[in-house]
Amino acid sequence: MFENLEKIKQQFNEELNRVESKDELERVRVAFLGKKGLVTDALKGLRDLSAEDKKTFGMQVNVLKNEIEEAIVEYQKKIEEQEYLKEINNAPRYDFSIPSDKPLGSLHPITIVQKQIEDIFKTMGFIIEDGLEVQTEYNNFEAVNIPKNHPARDMTDTYYLENGQLLKTHTSAAQNAIMRKYGAPKPGEYLKALFPGRCFRNESIDASHENTFFQMEGMMIGEDISISNLIYFMKVLLTEVFQRDVKVRLRPGFFPFVEPGFELDINCLICGGSGCPTCKHSGWLELLPCGMIHPNVLRMGGIDPDKYTGFAFGLGLTRLAMMKYNIKDIRVFNSGNLKQLRQFTI
Ligand code: DAH
Repeated sequence: MFENLEKIKQQFNEELNRVESKDELERVRVAFLGKKGLVTDALKGLRDLSAEDKKTFGMQVNVLKNEIEEAIVEYQKKIEEQEYLKEINNAPRYDFSIPSDKPLGSLHPITIVQKQIEDIFKTMGFIIEDGLEVQTEYNNFEAVNIPKNHPARDMTDTYYLENGQLLKTHTSAAQNAIMRKYGAPKPGEYLKALFPGRCFRNESIDASHENTFFQMEGMMIGEDISISNLIYFMKVLLTEVFQRDVKVRLRPGFFPFVEPGFELDINCLICGGSGCPTCKHSGWLELLPCGMIHPNVLRMGGIDPDKYTGFAFGLGLTRLAMMKYNIKDIRVFNSGNLKQLRQFTI
């Protein structure tokens, strides 16, 4: 009986060594561990043994069973690795040094501006996050202090999905998730985050309105954040982006998620302020709405508004790219018209 187990083990090792595929391995597994397999079969001899031997034999069968199981798992890994290597070795080989006869790809103007701003903010210690495009109504509205039936919901004609979720109408939709992810900063530290993203609103499309556009949101939270910090960061941002002094104006603006809230406008760089269709003939372009984060928003993000303050801004990234590259029509961005888009790459 006992020698039989030894034989089974030997036989198993021999058969395992011959296995070359997953199918074969499965066959071996069934032959030894299956219902009619050799190990299961060996247990049948149990009834002819004395009580003492039954115990020892039972234990040894179990040990053998475990050894076989482990060996099979190990072998399976080996086969998978071999299959993977085979796949890699059989893959077509490319010579990356061959010069291309096709025009090279390039970055979209919005991506260029986005990366540039990310770099500026990264050097100031901001983390870069990307929020989801499909959001819950809670994140997009309630969590930024726009409860159900609040008139501010009328400002955006929202694309709702059949499951009750929506395409985010602004990057502010990620504020709550970021506050919850990082929590309140430690004393003397700050939560500084920049989160660019694509937004969607059912707009009628014209030279300055699109239903799909990019924003870039930023926020900074700490125990001593004031409006001066906000103004400082906004100035650094615009000076770096335009590489020159731009004329700006700050006026009060209402957004439910900030208090006080501001509109930071820049002098229209397309017409120089004299008025054109892009600036709706006002000479100014709304570019950077911002403000001090509303206590309700901090509270909903799990941050104590009695202890912490913060600022937030929502930059119109698409609009900024228009200004920077003197693009007069917003429709160019989503047009896929490479002839036009390629001009702006660097
Ligand atoms: N979410 C606003 C919008 O899309 C923009 C905005 C305004 C964001 C003020 C902010 C802010 O963070 O403080 O219209």
